[in-house]
Amino acid sequence: MSVRLLQICAYALVLTALLPRRGEAASPPPALYTRSQALQGASAFEWKCASCHGHHLQGGVGPALEGPIFASAKSDFTIQQVYEFLSVEMPAYAPGSLTRTQYLDITAFLLRQNGYPAGVRALTDRIASHCTVPLLYRPAAKASPKVVKSKALAGKPLIVPRVNAP
Ligand code: HEC
Repeated sequence: MSVRLLQICAYALVLTALLPRRGEAASPPPALYTRSQALQGASAFEWKCASCHGHHLQGGVGPALEGPIFASAKSDFTIQQVYEFLSVEMPAYAPGSLTRTQYLDITAFLLRQNGYPAGVRALTDRIASHCTVPLLYRPAAKASPKVVKSKALAGKPLIVPRVNAP
């Protein structure tokens, strides 16, 4: 089953690779986590990360974790790299001190805040640590109609549109 799940990530990677690189991705973003993971992640983030990264991920002592500067073609992060970085290096005052579940939930939350939709399958350590899909910010306002019509999102928008300071 893990193999099948990894294929979802691999498929998304192929889609992304076929697109022209223009800072913001235009392909339907892959659904890599569940809504409940992102909700748990929001509270873990508030508790363990917001003091340095801001309550709205806007940045503070640490850099912003949402928006086109964090998740851009230029910063060139993959989901795997972000997951590994935050679970090994963060929180800065106690690196690696959270549980695996908390790190996965926080990763799900960061994906949601950067415009990735929730789906029916949970993000697992195995998927997150192998997922070489680039992390590219996808503003809700520019989400393609295809994404909005997808089953996972029907009737329940998960992405709160937020204007980011440039
Ligand atoms: C005590 C302050 C502090 C706390 C708490 C903290 N961070 Fe950080 N974080 C930083 C600083 C400073 C940097 C930039 C230095 C670096 O990259 O090592 C950073 C960098 C990052 C980056 C890389 C961003 C980039 O653009 O390079 C991520 C991702 C991240 N933090 C996630 C988290 C998460 C998730 C938590 C909560 C589990 C967290 N941080 C808690 C201070 C903090």
